[in-house]
Amino acid sequence: MVSGPRGLWGSRVGFVLAAAGSAIGLGNIWRFPTTVGRSGGAAFVLTYLLCVLLIGLPIMLAELAIGRRTQRNPVGAFAALAQGSLWRLVGGLGVVTGVGILSYYSVVAGWTIGYFLNDAGGAFANLPSEEYVKQAFLSLISNPTMTLSLHAVFMAFTMAVVLGGVKGGIERAAKVLMPVLLIILLLLVLRSVTLPGASVGLEFYLKPDFSKVTFATVMEALGQAFFSLSLGMGAMITYGSYLSRQANLFSSALWVVGADTAIALLAGLAIFPALFTFPGLSPAEGPGLIFVVLPNVFDKIPGGMVFGAGFFILLLIAALTSSISLLEVPVAYLIDERGWTRRQAVLALGALAFALGVPSALGQGAVGWLTSLPGLGVSFLDAMDTLFAKYSLTIGGLFLALFVGWRWGVEPALDEIAFVRASRFNRVFFRILLRYICPLAIAVILVNLALSSMTP
Ligand code: PFF
Repeated sequence: MVSGPRGLWGSRVGFVLAAAGSAIGLGNIWRFPTTVGRSGGAAFVLTYLLCVLLIGLPIMLAELAIGRRTQRNPVGAFAALAQGSLWRLVGGLGVVTGVGILSYYSVVAGWTIGYFLNDAGGAFANLPSEEYVKQAFLSLISNPTMTLSLHAVFMAFTMAVVLGGVKGGIERAAKVLMPVLLIILLLLVLRSVTLPGASVGLEFYLKPDFSKVTFATVMEALGQAFFSLSLGMGAMITYGSYLSRQANLFSSALWVVGADTAIALLAGLAIFPALFTFPGLSPAEGPGLIFVVLPNVFDKIPGGMVFGAGFFILLLIAALTSSISLLEVPVAYLIDERGWTRRQAVLALGALAFALGVPSALGQGAVGWLTSLPGLGVSFLDAMDTLFAKYSLTIGGLFLALFVGWRWGVEPALDEIAFVRASRFNRVFFRILLRYICPLAIAVILVNLALSSMTP
């Protein structure tokens, strides 16, 4: 990924691809449809788009600016811009969040390996019924040996890449493979929207019912925006720190945000129209949603087995280009701030994230209390996801906006972003967004959620 002791991206395109690689992953194809399904459809989708534009984009610019200015990991970056202050704790939260998210991200990515093997082995050919895939999915994820091995394999992949540096390999592969993923996704969309009865799902996905928007949905949308865009934990600070001075951050960020949003929207369009044509499946299926719906859609496409296997292997690669950024944040911290070697940092953090992921892997049927946590009623994986993706990232984003808006300053950030040619309007707009809209919106949502969870 980087060359030299700290290194720089090969080119701006290399950077945009790496950042888009970090952003596009399970968040778009697995988590986005799952959250849309649980949160009521189109109204959620619109809320999500607003969160991306008004909060995600400015915070991405802020993270990239901090990273490029300081050329440091998140903890070091806050420490450099605000010496001797507590701001570096925000970086610390990001480091912890990276390990936390990686732990269960790897479990879900492991399922995609299982699905690739199943598809390639013909297990999903000529399906007897829609229910069949659901049973196959449940038996895969509740088999402890299977899920733990797949989790281990994915974590090992991630560690190998972060260890070796991937400038040539992963970057070049991603450049070719991501467009192929897009093509298979488009094919899925085409099949899904032409299934008889697809209109019910289209309506669910595209026709908003605003009575369904509550603070809880807005919070979900915000958490999803942060997760999908890799924001709130300093991944973009870290990636920005490897960026050369010439690159224009604004257009880079626009590309990343645009690509990420397009892929998520397409994933939803592939899932929901099909979903409603299969009796017995509900949009609120949870983390298994795509794993149950997609093989059924592939089954209705000629040559579906090949496309299915192709899709899951590409999803795996998309997950890998994201998981390496999750690991890179804590690794960069240990190297820069604690003097560890890259090797020590990768081995220790990979082992830690693997161990933390074990309860998520076992909490899918293998071990009862991890599947439904006492007092919470959700699985360990769901609880980790809520804690880290929904809360930790959003809180990180809140402090990031406050930091740039009020401590470091909007003007130095704007200079770093190279808004040189930007109109006065853009400058003022960015200033208002970062100083007022982002922190206020995030704070209001967090406070309301806290209040509503206290009143039964
Ligand atoms: N953005 C990634 C995805 O959508 O799958 C997940 C992720 C990567 C979240 C890196 C946060 C992060 F810092």
